[in-house]
Amino acid sequence: MSKKLFIETLGCAMNVRDSEHMIAELNAQEGYELTDDAREADLILINTCSVREKPVHKLFSELGVFNKLKKEGAKIGVSGCTASHLGKEIIKRAPYVNFVLGARNVSKIGEVLHRDKAVEVEIDYDESQFAFKDFRSSPYKAYINISIGCDKQCTFCIVPKTRGDEISIPADLIVAEARKAAQNGVKEIFLLGQNVNNYGRRFSGNHEKMNFTELLRRVSAVEGVERIRFTSPHPLHMDDEFIEEFARNPKICKSMHMPLQSGSSEILKAMKRGYTKEWFLNRAAKLRELVPDVSISTDIIVAFPGESDKDFEETLDVMREVRFEQVFSFKYSPRPLTEAEGFTDTVDSEVGSERLSRLQAFQDTILDEMKTTLLGKEVEVYFEELRNDGYVAGRSDNNVMIKVKGCEEWLGKIAKVKITEVSRLVQYGEILA
Ligand code: 5AD
Ligand code: SF4
Repeated sequence: MSKKLFIETLGCAMNVRDSEHMIAELNAQEGYELTDDAREADLILINTCSVREKPVHKLFSELGVFNKLKKEGAKIGVSGCTASHLGKEIIKRAPYVNFVLGARNVSKIGEVLHRDKAVEVEIDYDESQFAFKDFRSSPYKAYINISIGCDKQCTFCIVPKTRGDEISIPADLIVAEARKAAQNGVKEIFLLGQNVNNYGRRFSGNHEKMNFTELLRRVSAVEGVERIRFTSPHPLHMDDEFIEEFARNPKICKSMHMPLQSGSSEILKAMKRGYTKEWFLNRAAKLRELVPDVSISTDIIVAFPGESDKDFEETLDVMREVRFEQVFSFKYSPRPLTEAEGFTDTVDSEVGSERLSRLQAFQDTILDEMKTTLLGKEVEVYFEELRNDGYVAGRSDNNVMIKVKGCEEWLGKIAKVKITEVSRLVQYGEILA
């Protein structure tokens, strides 16, 4: 009987890919198979996120639950960013945890499994050339890491402390992964990094130098790759060359994540984001000028220390002007190991909650208006999900989720769809060809 692995993945796309890597290693080295029932698992692994405080609290209550329901002899492991940040503290607080594996150490999963109470959390460990075994959670889309770590020093962000300095993965490895995925029938490549358009600044060995724009060209030249997405780019590094390639290259999907964080130049300075409100608006305008149909998504933090009503209004101004398709909004949460943790001009928590609700309600009104313009449009949809209500779902090139009546024969196919019904969350359509 094969051993069973239950894995829970929290946080960002980087974590999703790290989980895939660990699943692949555990399968290749130990014959583990996935289960979605923690009670029958031989290993319960939680791949954690530490970007905000709430999920960290949740981790310990969740560990308690898993410890009660696990079968006899089963192991519990904690990996990811909270593992990097708390290290052995996790075993102190939850002594039944068998190992702690940092976000920068996933290649050691097969090893820590056999060292009880192992804690591997070095943030300078170099996994940039590690040849992970193959596992893809979707047969239609391949996540490919292009760098590890992050060199930025945004004052609110714990990530540079959990994922370490940025190292780019050699381009030939990335292209080889894309080629392999395409040969297996994958049409969409999703390039991942904390700051993708900073690609190529540092390699750990003597590798071919290239920037992100050139990497995009290389990946798009791979036969069988039909769509390329990436996350996250940094607004500061959105130079003209990059935006022009984004516009010109038909394989690059026309949806861009532009994490604004704040619309106030003062607050951006305190956050050490490296750009101003004007720069952000200028880049968004250039993008819209070259790609009128582009959908732009963003991340916004409200109630960062020092944020006045006026600063907050400026964030709403940017939202009004750019008209984002999707806004991921958060109330500022002070994080250990970050510069902003020591900032004393904090914003009252209730004020923060009010701002967050106001921002979200405002975005809903923008979205309702934007969605109506989709009605009747013809778009190309890549079908990836079978819904149990007789529908298949997929995303348009510019990231609109669309459902059409259909069965599994559409999965993995790209078809032209006319949008027939719109709402805030989901659009319906009919297949044209
Ligand atoms: N508080 C609130 N939100 C945060 N983010 C990162 N750090 C914090 C924090 N300390 C948000 C940012 C980032 C997204 C992944 O999470 O908006 O882009
Ligand atoms: Fe991803 Fe950041 Fe969360 Fe780590 S802390 S899992 S890098 S979102």
